Amino acid sequence: MSSLRNQRAVVTGGSRGIGRAIVEALLAEGAIVTLCGRTEESTATALAELAHPNAHGIAADVSDPADVARLFHFATERMGGVDILVASAGIGIYKAAGDMEIADWKRTIDINLTGAFLCSHQAIQSMRKTGGGFIVHLSSLAGRNPFAGGAAYNASKFGLNGMSEAIMLDHRNENIRVTTIMPGSVDTDFSPRSSGKPSDWKIAPADVAAMVVAVLSMPARTLVSRVEMRPSRPPK
Ligand SMILES: NC(=O)c1ccc[n+]([C@@H]2O[C@H](COP(=O)([O-])OP(=O)(O)OC[C@H]3O[C@@H](n4cnc5c(N)ncnc54)[C@H](OP(=O)(O)O)[C@@H]3O)[C@@H](O)[C@H]2O)c1
Repeated sequence: MSSLRNQRAVVTGGSRGIGRAIVEALLAEGAIVTLCGRTEESTATALAELAHPNAHGIAADVSDPADVARLFHFATERMGGVDILVASAGIGIYKAAGDMEIADWKRTIDINLTGAFLCSHQAIQSMRKTGGGFIVHLSSLAGRNPFAGGAAYNASKFGLNGMSEAIMLDHRNENIRVTTIMPGSVDTDFSPRSSGKPSDWKIAPADVAAMVVAVLSMPARTLVSRVEMRPSRPPK
């Protein structure tokens, strides 16, 4: 297994939830991390709570190309380069198509799909300079299984699955390994349907983080292209 010590990672959505657990796992493996949240407040709070010399961060809206360029410029200045991108930033807006504002549709696609593209595009430029790297896209089982109220979210994650696999095929011969991770319900504040109470049947964010570390630790000859994760015992 390859070591992650001194590997330089950008984690979008690293202020909370799954992204935050991934930041913690990467730091524990000896990686250097630049995280971004959407707001300055959440980004600063995460950095203060982590209080780790290898943790850096800046607020950036992943749907804004100028913000994404700023994020990668900051990461490169702080860390000297980018070997790993984990694109975890995402939102969920669940409404029947006929009740959805056009702005909700656009926001979901702009953040979940275009945001992942913009970050991957920047990451590939950095990785080409150093001879390779890893890109991990946080998709969802909602990228395979449509549900009522999911028109925008399902579309963003179906699109992300296709985009992620295409990028994998585009760049694997440049030693850039691209992985799509598709979890089912994870115990974060993501879903407006989640009550904020812990749900012990759900996947823990730390479990997704452990999968990310496993994927990143694969020997160079092996590329894990897609991972599906689901709660082992969901309520009936
Ligand atoms: N939770 C689940 O059940 C589940 C299941 C499958 C897949 N996923 C996927 O996993 C990813 C992370 O979900 P989560 O549960 O960790 O969500 P979460 O707890 O709501 O955290 C979302 C993170 O994304 C950031 N973010 C949101 N919009 C952004 C933007 N425009 N630019 C930059 N950052 C932005 C947030 O920053 P702020 O802190 O500043 O708001 C926060 O760090 C998402 O892509 C989601 O679709 C989640």
